[in-house]
Amino acid sequence: MATKQLEVDVIPLTQSFIFKANIGQDIISSINQYLDEILADENAKSHAHKLVGQIAKGKQLEISLQEDRILPLINIIQSLGLNYYDYFYKRTEDTSQPKKTAHVYAMWSVHSYAGDYNPLHDHGTQTLQGLSGSVYTKIPPVIQESSGNLDLSNASGNQNGYLQFVYGDSPVIGPSMFKIPQNMAVKPVVGDLYLWPSWLEHMVYPFDGEGERRSIAFNVSFHKLENSSRSNDASVHKT
Ligand SMILES: [Fe+2]
Repeated sequence: MATKQLEVDVIPLTQSFIFKANIGQDIISSINQYLDEILADENAKSHAHKLVGQIAKGKQLEISLQEDRILPLINIIQSLGLNYYDYFYKRTEDTSQPKKTAHVYAMWSVHSYAGDYNPLHDHGTQTLQGLSGSVYTKIPPVIQESSGNLDLSNASGNQNGYLQFVYGDSPVIGPSMFKIPQNMAVKPVVGDLYLWPSWLEHMVYPFDGEGERRSIAFNVSFHKLENSSRSNDASVHKT
């Protein structure tokens, strides 16, 4: 950027980043088959006592990390977790970090219906470095058909059922005082997976209408690798 004779550098103030990937319909179908089973099982373990989700009509259920139909998802998350680790330290230009393994240590399903919501919260971590995330396996028509327009004026309902990240001040009039709002709303789409640092606060707005909004949430820990060689096969697309 040039202002008359002066060269001006723009120095961005960046706090964090989120990974987004789509895991494909085949994996989603077999996950949903498993989730249908535990949803219908009266003896399925509830995870609600560990969560803040106000899921009164639906359920929040513990997912077995040994379940065959869940293992492909766990492998994807752990691979993405390693990519996240590498990408983070590449961005911060820190080459001193040891190789680590990423471990999915907790996973649960969230079956939400009209009026259910998840208030602003962060996630606990097993290790100092932790990632959390969600993947969508069912989205009701009323959310699917929403425009993706995030304008909330005139009681638009545009963000009903959306996931919202809050990573700083979120002033409505911020842009008029040179303050970039530090929040981001995401339209949930079946197959989309989001991976973020566990401290990053987020919430889910309620929706109105027929159908189930179904997602899986999870936490990832990082552990030092004894043997420094490891495979890392997910590719990262910078945005
Ligand atoms: Fe959460």
